[in-house]
Amino acid sequence: MWVYLNGEILDSSEAKISPLDRAFTFGEGVYEVIPSYNKKLFLFSEHLSRLKSSLEKSFIPFPQELTNLEEVIYQLHDMNGFLNQSFYIQVTRGVQEFRSHQADPVIDPTIFISSQNLEINPYRLNPDRVGLRARLEEDIRWSRCDIKTTGLFGNVLSLHDPSKERVDEIIFHKDGIINEGSRSNIFFVKEKKVYTPSLEQNILPGVTRAFIIKLLKENDISIFEESIPIDFINESDEIWLTSSTKEIQPVDYINERELPKKNTESQIWKRILRLFD
Ligand code: PDD
Repeated sequence: MWVYLNGEILDSSEAKISPLDRAFTFGEGVYEVIPSYNKKLFLFSEHLSRLKSSLEKSFIPFPQELTNLEEVIYQLHDMNGFLNQSFYIQVTRGVQEFRSHQADPVIDPTIFISSQNLEINPYRLNPDRVGLRARLEEDIRWSRCDIKTTGLFGNVLSLHDPSKERVDEIIFHKDGIINEGSRSNIFFVKEKKVYTPSLEQNILPGVTRAFIIKLLKENDISIFEESIPIDFINESDEIWLTSSTKEIQPVDYINERELPKKNTESQIWKRILRLFD
């Protein structure tokens, strides 16, 4: 696998990062995940804007090298060969010789880009396959989930708890209000109206979320961005998760309980998935 590290394209086995990188010592890094379909990047400029925003909010300067990010990604695309790929762009505050909480103001950010084969959304191949299994959990993450940080300990911690059931996704709630998944945004449908948590909550402003909201509006489907109580799960006709790698996928089980099936013929998520195509 070919990767990009600080200006060079290398075989992944040759790519070396110092343990003094502040991403290693302090978890100070941000990232972006950009999908490609048939060798074309999808929603590139939206992802670039969010990367810039994550960097700005983290007080990490936008690296000059990233001005030709699209070019570099296409170069890796050709070298890694897969038709559909997901590109992971990671930028850290950089390497600092002396360990200090306060970063040296002159260090250069570390830039690392890798890619992997992007599996086709299985619900595109078969929309009737069983939906995802999710678990509801108190949101223990920090309060800046608007920054797409590589510091994802809070997101993944319970996935490693051997006493817990293996699930496809964790759905976080705080004070009785749904936030988002550990790696996706969430949507609900009730009586043909779509609901998703507002960006004023502690969530990532998902690029797929924004794209789907646009599709819903263009197709005259009502969409409300507002706070959603946990009980709404029992009242909804559909629950979906969205992300750059999942696109849109339905949830069928929450906390090992199957959600009641309603209106399966005219589900809105299936329509959105067709529009996505
Ligand atoms: N995850 N919320 C969280 C916490 C996420 O990690 C993600 C994406 C999303 C959806 O954002 P977008 O639609 O821009 O992909 C929401 C990516 C795919 C990941 O970490 O691999």
